[in-house]
Amino acid sequence: MAKMTVRDLDLKGKTVLMRADFNVPLDANLAITDDTRIRETVPTIKFILEKGAKKLVLMSHLGRPDGKRVDKYSLKPVAQRLEELAGTKVAFLNDCIGEEVKKGVAAASEKIVLLENLRYYAQEEGNDPEFARQLAGLAEVFVNDAFGTAHRAHASTAGVNKYLKSAAGLLLEKEIKYLGDAVADPAKPFMVILGGSKVSDKIGVIDNLLPKCDAIIVGGGMAYTFLKAQGKSIGNSKLEKDKIDLAKSILDKAAAQKKEIVLPVDHVIVDTVDANARTEICGQDIPDGKIAVDIGPKTVELFNQKLSAARTIVWNGPVGIFEMDAFSKGTKALGEFIGSLKAVTIIGGGDTAAAVAKFKLQGKMTHISTGGGASLEFLEGKTLPGIAALSDK
Ligand code: 3PG
Repeated sequence: MAKMTVRDLDLKGKTVLMRADFNVPLDANLAITDDTRIRETVPTIKFILEKGAKKLVLMSHLGRPDGKRVDKYSLKPVAQRLEELAGTKVAFLNDCIGEEVKKGVAAASEKIVLLENLRYYAQEEGNDPEFARQLAGLAEVFVNDAFGTAHRAHASTAGVNKYLKSAAGLLLEKEIKYLGDAVADPAKPFMVILGGSKVSDKIGVIDNLLPKCDAIIVGGGMAYTFLKAQGKSIGNSKLEKDKIDLAKSILDKAAAQKKEIVLPVDHVIVDTVDANARTEICGQDIPDGKIAVDIGPKTVELFNQKLSAARTIVWNGPVGIFEMDAFSKGTKALGEFIGSLKAVTIIGGGDTAAAVAKFKLQGKMTHISTGGGASLEFLEGKTLPGIAALSDK
């Protein structure tokens, strides 16, 4: 990549400012329920300290506190977990800018300092130059490892770069490599699996990947709008009425490019979406009043058969309501099958990563992105502001 990475920096004796994405899920007791994003940042943290940095100042957002101090969005629980994962003490400061923070960084005996939530200040999301200047004033060089937030042009992702030499961390570098290669130069056959509830969320990805891939496999809520566009009955299943014409035009475009769009041929159906609902299997047409909640066994077989020869697979979006066990079989079977293949398997972040984690398939995939919205925008071919702002080599 033509952008500078942390490998290119001389860090000896320097204070380093690093943007991480520690936006992790917390339960009602503020316990972290998934620490993947913290874990994935540890190699960069260790690398920076091993390169002789004097101090590492970490910053992140958590949740959407909208420019106000909201206790439940404090990064304090992250400091604790980071200490365990990095195996070294972490100083936590209860603010991110100002004289006290400057003093706190200088006085800390710990090598790692974590600042409080950047989004307690509206200036963060507003990419305020003065706020960015104050953050930059805490260090001599900047490393961005927050792939999950790289699609946001905020002060800590695209503002501090004006004041400091800026390099990608190892996680950001890895994300760009896997997602970038999959899009730019995929080993063929290249198959894309799209799921999730809305066609509208995935239109950019379809536009960008259709010309590059061999087929798109569609499941989940978005499949029913496609089936409706083909004149099938979909009962009371999820439908974006105003996107039926769009789905039709995608099907036409795919046909013109001789690309297959593979849709479900059977479904798991219920009367109401309830974890204890009685499930039935139906064919491609869904009876009146019924709601499809997962792909059926024939569809699993069809998808597996289409995917078996793939050398590159990008998967973004579950193919059923996998959060409820009774409707998770299709997503699980698909994940297990993909995980058993020799292909390069790239999993989009967010829901798809959560599904892969639920079925304990993390070790079976080539790359699981830590970015939900960011991986989607990357796959849409967009330039992410957090990457664009890094210094050129
Ligand atoms: C995410 O979880 O997708 C990132 O941390 C970005 O969060 P945001 O959507 O609140 O900007």
